[in-house]
Amino acid sequence: MSLAEFIAGLPKAELHLHIEGSLEPELMFELARRNRIALPFASVEAVRAAYAFSNLQDFLDIYYQGAGVLQTEDDFRDLALAYFRRVAADGCRHVELFFDPQTHTDRGIPFAVAADGLLAGMAQAEASFGITAKLILCFLRHLDEDAAFATLRAAEPYLDRIAAVGLDSSELGHPPAKFARVYQAAAERGLKRVAHAGEEGPPDYVWEALDLLHVDRIDHGNRSLEDAALVKRLAAEAMTLTVCPLSNLKLCVVSDMAAHPLKRMLDLGLHATINSDDPAYFGGYLADNWLAVTQSLGLTRPDLITLARNSFSGSFLAPAEIARHLAAIDAYAEAHPA
Ligand code: HPA
Ligand code: ZN
Repeated sequence: MSLAEFIAGLPKAELHLHIEGSLEPELMFELARRNRIALPFASVEAVRAAYAFSNLQDFLDIYYQGAGVLQTEDDFRDLALAYFRRVAADGCRHVELFFDPQTHTDRGIPFAVAADGLLAGMAQAEASFGITAKLILCFLRHLDEDAAFATLRAAEPYLDRIAAVGLDSSELGHPPAKFARVYQAAAERGLKRVAHAGEEGPPDYVWEALDLLHVDRIDHGNRSLEDAALVKRLAAEAMTLTVCPLSNLKLCVVSDMAAHPLKRMLDLGLHATINSDDPAYFGGYLADNWLAVTQSLGLTRPDLITLARNSFSGSFLAPAEIARHLAAIDAYAEAHPA
C-alpha cells in the first residue's frame, strides 16, 4: 500500500478550513452567471493564473473579491456541499469550518443567508457522506472591535449552531488584544475560541491569543517556534495548532516544503494537526496537504497516526465521539502494519 493510499484511508478531521476559500474557479463562474455578476477574469484559467501570492494580503485581496459571487442561501449550500463531496474522497470524517460573516454582511448579504446556507450544506453532508461538521464564526481582524461586536449580535439567533469564534484576515498590525472584549463576550455566550496567530505575526501574538483571548486552539502558530518559552507553554497545555502546509508554501510563510516546521513541531511535543486552509487557492485539499508534508519531511506511519489522532482530540466533538474516532484510527493502524 502506498503512503497516498494509507493517508486516504486513515480517518482524519479538518480543523482549519475557510469555506469561502474552497470556492473553485469553476463554481465561481457558475455562481457569477447565476447571479448576473461580472467577474474581472475572462476564464477559469485566468483565475487560476492570478493565484500567485507573495504574502497573506496578496491572497486576501483576491479571496474577498471571489467571495462576491456568493449571494443566496443556495450559493452557500452549494459551496459547502462541493467542499464536503471533495473531502469525502480524502477520508475526512469531521470538519470544523470557518466562515467570515463580515465579508458578506458588508456587501449587503444578511448573516442569515450565509449561516442558513452553510448549515443546510453541513446537514446534507452528514446525510450524504457521513461527514460531521461544526461551524466557526470568524471576525475579520482588519475591521474594528465595534464591527466584531455587531457580528456577534447578528449571530445571537444561531448560537446553538455555532461552535466557536475565530479571528482571521490580515494579521500584522491587528494583534489579538484588539478583540479581547469580544472574545470575553463570546465566552460568556458559551462559545469556544480559536484565533489565527503566528502565521505572519510574531510569537507575541500567540501569547496574546492564549492570555487575552483564552483560546482553545491556535490556527497556524508557525512562528511560535521562535520562542522557546512559548513552545514549552504550548506543549505543556497540549494546545492544538492547526497547521496548513500548502497554504504556508503559497503564502511564503515557508520557502520550501522541505523547510516546513511540522516535523519539528511533533518532535518538540506540540499538538499539531494538518489542514488545508483555503484549498481552492492553495493547490490542494486535505489529503494533498498530508501527502505533501509526508513526502517532503519523511513522516513515518507513527507520525501520521499521531497527526490523525491529534485532528480528533483537538476537535470540539464530545469526548465519546472523539473516543469513537480514535478507536477507528487504532483499528486502521492495526489493519495496516508498516
Ligand atoms: N490567514 C488569515 N486569514 C485568512 C486565511 C489565512 O490563512 N485564510 C482565509 N482568511
Ligand atoms: Zn486560515
